[in-house]
Amino acid sequence: MSDDSSTVIAQELRREVRDAAPGSRLPSTREIARRFGAGPATVQQAIGRLVAAGLVETRPGVGTFVLDRRVATSAGDVDWQTTSLGPDRTGPTPIGSTLRDVGPGAIALHSGYPSPDLLPLREVRSAVQRAVREGDAWDRPPLLGMADLRAWFAREVAAGSATAAPRPSDVVVTAGGQAALSAVFRALAAPGDPVVMESPTYWGAIAAARQAGLVIVPVARTVGAPRAADLDDALRTSGARIAYVQPTFANPTGAHWLPAERAAILRVAAERGVFLVEDDWARDLAIAEPRPPLAADDPDGHVVYIRSLTKSASLTLRVGAVIARGPVRDRIAGALASSDLYVAPLLQRAALDVVTRPSWQAHIARLRRALRIRRDALAAAVSTHAPSLEVTSMPEGGLNLWTRLPRDLDAPAVAARCLADGVAVSPGDEWFPAAVPGPHLRLNYGWADPARFPEAARIVEKVITAAVD
Ligand SMILES: Cc1ncc(COP(=O)(O)O)c(C=O)c1O
Repeated sequence: MSDDSSTVIAQELRREVRDAAPGSRLPSTREIARRFGAGPATVQQAIGRLVAAGLVETRPGVGTFVLDRRVATSAGDVDWQTTSLGPDRTGPTPIGSTLRDVGPGAIALHSGYPSPDLLPLREVRSAVQRAVREGDAWDRPPLLGMADLRAWFAREVAAGSATAAPRPSDVVVTAGGQAALSAVFRALAAPGDPVVMESPTYWGAIAAARQAGLVIVPVARTVGAPRAADLDDALRTSGARIAYVQPTFANPTGAHWLPAERAAILRVAAERGVFLVEDDWARDLAIAEPRPPLAADDPDGHVVYIRSLTKSASLTLRVGAVIARGPVRDRIAGALASSDLYVAPLLQRAALDVVTRPSWQAHIARLRRALRIRRDALAAAVSTHAPSLEVTSMPEGGLNLWTRLPRDLDAPAVAARCLADGVAVSPGDEWFPAAVPGPHLRLNYGWADPARFPEAARIVEKVITAAVD
């Protein structure tokens, strides 16, 4: 019998339980199964629902008993939502494992953020305290964001631009990169429309596109950029008007586009008349000097640029920006306003304070040095203690080592075993928007204590060895 049968049985039993006296005993599983022509597993499932709703309790070896309704009714009955909600559009894992809370003893190589001790906590605290005293932190801010913060984001891109510096008026302030992504997808495509994405790519972009009802068209990317011809082909055959890309230290691979690849892909965007959504998430997490954003080479508004301060200033300051030239800016601003109205002015004021002090540049330089040391430490630990993991390429920015597992292993199963043994890692499957070409693990070097990297690598190796045998 199916899930539906257990729903029907649960509904019927629920009616009987409502009329029964507290403490009375339900018929046995066998009796109920006979009555409904169902299997015992289906009946157990139905009883499980009543237990979850607080209507009955099961006493092992004794039976199932009706609970006092005065207590039970407070639990409510939400079973109806199963039918009403219908199919799950977002797929089975809409939230990536990078946000999972793991126990305090676990070595967290799964995180999406740098460790708080790499961030300028003291400066952020002082900035928030100063912002609290500012008058404009308590007024409704302009919908598109505070003028001086918009100007700062525009200057950051303009610094790398010979020909195509964006203007402050091209900038819309957002509540971090994720809100920006979600708004851009909603603004530039309608449910059912295709969006091209590099594969692998950021799970949060996959989730945001799926939430917007978009169909993801993957283009393979390993080292460097996807081939311009492949991107062109994917755009042509799917009819997509947008491609989501990470030219600079992509999450999860750490790869970046070379100058010739950038030029070729910008040409494809111009010829096809499409938008490239450039997620510049790792600019402040660069180990090697990053190339200027694509947006700095794009006078004609093909690039919709996203930047965020959550990973380099503070997890608490969820402030980012979209830079978009032309009428597209208003579309995106409309999508943002429909979900967020505006970003908390207190956070905007504090973020601007942090990034415009001289200490900011010193912080970024320190952060980059620390990430280099951590990356090298994790790569060395993997090479020495986890030789079964192949590091696909040494990242020159970002927070992660992207590694290949021996063929035929099941990455989610390996990740689950590692977690049980005290190491949290992110299984590669979450980072592929469609076909998964092989098992991978993403290892974050920015969060855990580097002194524990060798121990973590040894545990991962032990899990792999056991899985291969
Ligand atoms: C590639 C990429 N883009 C965007 C985001 C969203 O960042 P936030 O919303 O924290 O600014 C993340 C976060 O992990 C990311 O890895």
